[in-house]
Parts: sequence; C-alpha cells; structure tokens
Amino acid sequence: MKRVNIGVVGTGFWGENQVRVLRQNKTSNLVAICDADEARAREVGAKYDVPWFTDLIKFLSQPRLEAVTICTPTHTHLEVGLQVLQAHKDVLVEKPMTGEQKAAGELIQKARKTGQKLLVGFIERFNPGVKLVKKMLEEKVVGQVIIVTGRRVARWPVRIGDVGVIKDTAIHDIDMMRHLFGEEVSAVYARTGSLRHTFEDYAEIMLGFEKGITGFIDANWLTPRKVRTLIITGSEATINLDYITQEITVEDSEKLTRPHPVWDEPLRLELEHFVKVVGDNDDPSPSGEDALEAIKICDAALASGKTGQLVYPDKQR
Ligand SMILES: NC(=O)c1ccc[n+]([C@@H]2O[C@H](COP(=O)([O-])OP(=O)(O)OC[C@H]3O[C@@H](n4cnc5c(N)ncnc54)[C@H](O)[C@@H]3O)[C@@H](O)[C@H]2O)c1
Repeated sequence: MKRVNIGVVGTGFWGENQVRVLRQNKTSNLVAICDADEARAREVGAKYDVPWFTDLIKFLSQPRLEAVTICTPTHTHLEVGLQVLQAHKDVLVEKPMTGEQKAAGELIQKARKTGQKLLVGFIERFNPGVKLVKKMLEEKVVGQVIIVTGRRVARWPVRIGDVGVIKDTAIHDIDMMRHLFGEEVSAVYARTGSLRHTFEDYAEIMLGFEKGITGFIDANWLTPRKVRTLIITGSEATINLDYITQEITVEDSEKLTRPHPVWDEPLRLELEHFVKVVGDNDDPSPSGEDALEAIKICDAALASGKTGQLVYPDKQR
C-alpha cells in the first residue's frame, strides 16, 4: 500500500489527538495542519514537528496533500468540507458531519461531483469490542435480537457548543445500532431537556427499527461518572459491551462467558482505515450517506422531544 500524504484542519482537543495518531501512523505522512487560531496552530505544529497554517487555502495548496481530516466545530464543517473537496482532497469529517441534513446533502453532492471520498468519524465502528460483537451477532450468538440499549453519559462542563447531546453524543449509538443490525429506523420517540447547557443536555430516545428490533439510548452530559455501554438482548442470550474497557460478557441460561478482544485505540484504527480507503481506492465507509441517515434520526429525536409525539423519519425526508 502506498503512503498517503495527509493533513488535519482544526487542531483543538480532538484534532490534536488525530495529529498525535497520524504522526505515528506508518502508512501515511502527516504533511501539514491548519487551525484558524494562530497560537493553537503554532503550538501543535511545534509539538508534533509538522508545518502549520492558519489559512485554509494556503494549507490546501500544499502540493503533496492528498487527504484531509476535519476536526473544526460542527457549524464550520460544511464550509471547510466544500473547500477541501473543491481542492480535490479525500476527506474524513468529524461527527456530526454537519448540524443539518441539508448541509450533509450538499457535502455528499460535492463529493460525488468532484469524485473525492467522503467519510465520517463514527469512531465506535472501529472499537475492537464492537467488531467482536458484530461477529457474534452474525454467528447468531444471541438468537433473535429483541432490544439494544446504548448508554453514553458523562459530566460535561458548561461551554457554548454548536449542537446538543443528541447530535454530539447519542449520534454514536444511533450509528452503532444501524451498523450492527443493518436496518433503518422507522419510528422515533424521545424525551429531552436542558439542565445546565444551552442545547439539550439529556435525552432518552426510543428507536423502532423496520424489522422489529427496539433501540433505547440514554445520553446526557450530567452524570458524574463516564459510562459508555451497549446491551443486546436476544432470544437466546444477552451481550454486554463496555466501549471504554472494550470488555464483553455474554450470558445465556447456563453460563456467563467473557470473550476477550485485544484492546486497541479506536482512533488509531479509524485513521488507519481512512488512509487505507484513500491509498487502495476503496469505497468510503462510514460514508456521507451514513452520516446523513444518523443526522435524520437525530432530527426526528429532537422533533419528538419538542412535541412529545412519535416521529417517522421517512416522512420527514
Ligand atoms: N469522534 C469522536 O469521538 C469525537 C470526539 C471529540 C470531538 N469530536 C468532533 O471533533 C470536532 C471538534 O471538536 P473539539 O472538541 O476538538 O473542538 P475544539 O473547540 O477543541 O477544537 C476546534 C478547533 O478548530 C479550530 N477552528 C475553528 N474554526 C476553524 C476553521 N474555520 N478553520 C480552521 N480551524 C478552525 C479552533 O481554533 C479549534 O482549535 C467536533 O465536530 C466534535 O464533534 C469527535
């Protein structure tokens, strides 16, 4: 596989993590970074010994640059993404790909027009625990799946963000459930509210999947201890996954077993995947369309939270 020349736009909290991981990746060359905040760009550039820019156009005109990750705040993803695609670079946009469905559609159209690859940062798909759970589902370890519960809670400091807990946090569980079961959501009911943040900071979301599985998501920025878990209940057994420790337990009527995935950093695996998609000219996945589908379900949850009514995402499309 050829080495891919890559750059990062937005080197705040998450972008710095990407810079750290890409600096160590043996299948890519980190050729440049860009942050609108000059002090931040200089700091991260110096720490990881990589050329830094504050001007996106100058960054994109680096002749070797082939692929870009976008880790700027969500409200900037459309504008930055369109410029990156226009410059004929493949792109991985952090989740949520955009704040609105319309903007997600514009990015998808632009990628089609320019022929560039568009991926979204649904990092949990690369969690080794998730990969093992998916394999167990394919092997029908739990029998017929009845209900899947995702819990993603933590105390998050009050700060002015651009999306609430649904598009920031619950979106991981929404994508995860679509990914694990390969089914679309046909109905959404949610209760949401805000105790300490501008946008909603807690949400209880119920998803009706088209072939009968029920999804339940508990997401908030209020619970003191960070918890990220998935429980899948089926006719024959129950699987528990802790996303953080990547530990799994499987319980049936006779025994409890602990299949053991080897721990690895999901971000490292995600960025290696992006580099491989670019280098090997593979189909992009998770794709812009996956991103749009998840945003549609988030919008349905937000609408349901406001009205108290069941929302059918297909009817909103
Ligand atoms: N996949 C995950 O698990 C995960 C985790 C954390 C954050 N994220 C996502 O990453 C994105 C960034 O989040 P964060 O917490 O790092 O935010 P942040 O505020 O810490 O960093 C954003 C950076 O982007 C820079 N910036 C803003 N506008 C810019 C522009 N137009 N051009 C260049 N730079 C610009 C800012 O100066 C800042 O340094 C968000 O979309 C967030 O949802 C994803």
